[in-house]
Amino acid sequence: MEKLIINGSRPLNGTVKASGAKNAALGIMAATVIANGPCLIGNLPEIEDVEIMKDIIHSLGVKVKSKKNQAYFDASTMTTSDVETPLASKMRASYYLIGALLAKTGRASIPLPGGCQIGARPIDQHIKGFKALGATVDISENRISVSARKLVGDEIYFDSVSVGATINVMLAAVRAEGTTKLVNAAREPHVVDTANFLNLLGASIRGAGTDVITIEGVSELKGGEYSIIPDQIEIGTYMIAAAATNGNVYITDVIPKHMETLSAKLEDMGVTVENGDDYIHVVGNGRPYAVNVKTSVYPGFPTDLQQPLSALLCIAQGNSTVTENIFENRFRHLEELKKMGASVETEGRRAFITGVSSLTGAKIMASDLRAGAALVIAGLMAEGETEVYGLEHIDRGYESIEKKFSKLGADIKRVPYLTRSGS
Ligand code: UD1
Repeated sequence: MEKLIINGSRPLNGTVKASGAKNAALGIMAATVIANGPCLIGNLPEIEDVEIMKDIIHSLGVKVKSKKNQAYFDASTMTTSDVETPLASKMRASYYLIGALLAKTGRASIPLPGGCQIGARPIDQHIKGFKALGATVDISENRISVSARKLVGDEIYFDSVSVGATINVMLAAVRAEGTTKLVNAAREPHVVDTANFLNLLGASIRGAGTDVITIEGVSELKGGEYSIIPDQIEIGTYMIAAAATNGNVYITDVIPKHMETLSAKLEDMGVTVENGDDYIHVVGNGRPYAVNVKTSVYPGFPTDLQQPLSALLCIAQGNSTVTENIFENRFRHLEELKKMGASVETEGRRAFITGVSSLTGAKIMASDLRAGAALVIAGLMAEGETEVYGLEHIDRGYESIEKKFSKLGADIKRVPYLTRSGS
């Protein structure tokens, strides 16, 4: 096992390049199985979730070849629509293969998805969409099996806005007969990126990025070459870390528009944020001001940045209230931050943070991916040494996190440690 050791209180300085977006990569990799020709995907982040997705797709008989930040997928060799590998239950986005395989072969069977333990995370809206397109859905023995003799377009009203359901049903609909309309669709950048990739392959999708997406079914998708958008959440993590350490950091290869909500929030906190064409420059100006934050669907404040930002709010001047509207169990990082001296109380979906002048290093454990990012930020700004455990969560979604922070001047290293079982 490994842990991070961070000696904090050092301002971050310099330039860091954003990696490709995890959540777009997962939708896009699943989409490659629909194609009848080879697909070359670039700007893939080198993270555990991407590796797992490649392995799951490979287990279907798809040819997968990788080299740094690129992967080639050729589904012409695919032999099955049954995902048998237990890897699928380790990662939530494996469920995108349901929509993709349904589009490609008319059926799919996969283990029920896993992922971060941040709430109940039902998939009823995905199922509603598949059924509306004419599929039958069976859930038994921890598997979900979906099949359709023919998929036919329909108008689908999502009861709530779901990124996963929007992408999954969009994948299924690209080869359905006629027109599918997804109403109350998610507008996140990774929904748009997945739609752009599908359109490159020959799909006909309009309206991605708005709450109504219209899909005209086509008979087949060809192969193609595509480069994934930058990771909005990784960029946000570095922006917050720069502010938290009183740093001066340029984050390059970004789409500043995707960061507008966070940039505005940081500016409210007294942080300087300057946008270039494809970079963002963040300068910390001492202890930030307290602010209130409510998570919401895009373009609102992203739930995935709630945890990193709440770490920063722990040292803000004044009282902040954080309201988590998307997931019901996304405050577990706050218990760890309390070990570092944070003053926090939670009540249901709200956290009340009273800023303290500084945090102190401690041994802390990441409970999920973005909790991990929050703890690393806390370690970077704290006085003294912090040990962050639970790196398997962080490695799911952050490429070379300790290398990128080291390059910015952080004192952070990854070291092995022995567990009781000796691993
Ligand atoms: C995706 C992101 C995740 C992010 C989240 C919200 C990926 C791989 N993951 O997760 O990083 O935190 O969006 O931006 O892209 N819901 C239902 N029924 C459903 C589906 C969802 O009730 O069928 C609920 C969920 O429990 C949650 C809310 O809708 O409360 C939003 O979930 P959703 O947008 O689907 O998140 P994910 O796609 O799981």
